Amino acid sequence: MTTPDRLIILVGSVTDNALHAAQAIAMDGTDLIPVIEVRPMDGLDTRVFDEDALFLICTSTHGAGDVPENARALYESLDSAPRYLGHVRYGVVALGDSAYPQTFCNGGLRFDERLSDLGAQRLGDVFRHDASMGTDAAEQASAWCRDWLSLVRPAAQTIQA
Ligand SMILES: Cc1cc2nc3c(=O)[nH]c(=O)nc-3n(C[C@H](O)[C@H](O)[C@H](O)COP(=O)(O)O)c2cc1C
Repeated sequence: MTTPDRLIILVGSVTDNALHAAQAIAMDGTDLIPVIEVRPMDGLDTRVFDEDALFLICTSTHGAGDVPENARALYESLDSAPRYLGHVRYGVVALGDSAYPQTFCNGGLRFDERLSDLGAQRLGDVFRHDASMGTDAAEQASAWCRDWLSLVRPAAQTIQA
């Protein structure tokens, strides 16, 4: 078991708010973890979780509470090619809008539920950004992530897949 030196941010986004949040996290967090990679989810499947890293799911919600289109393949692979992910440690940044009260931040919550079903362990609480609050998602997510990394990284020992 080792303390992870790499954070991989898996990004699901339609209009780039989640992408910009991930980029802000990557710029602001380098003193807290040696390597931060921003990786849009396009074309990924569960094999991404074979990498020795701490993971951050950073995704918005679209449609009727769905994950963004670019996140669909990865999300569906968690169902169609399920694997035990007991070695995975992850956090969640969920972007949404409370104007959709029934499905607020469902995209991130859906990933959280599925990863946890497969044995992955979430570290810390889910961070939710509400577009109706008029606050800057990138600023808030990166401030949250600094606290999150300080708290969880020492405890986030990963087991090589
Ligand atoms: C067509 C559409 C549908 C949306 N549906 C939801 C929803 O069901 N639940 C929610 O919490 N937010 C919903 N949102 C809000 C977005 O998740 C939010 O604006 C987010 O910041 C967009 O991030 P992105 O630019 O990374 O895609 C929706 C936005 C749009 C434009």
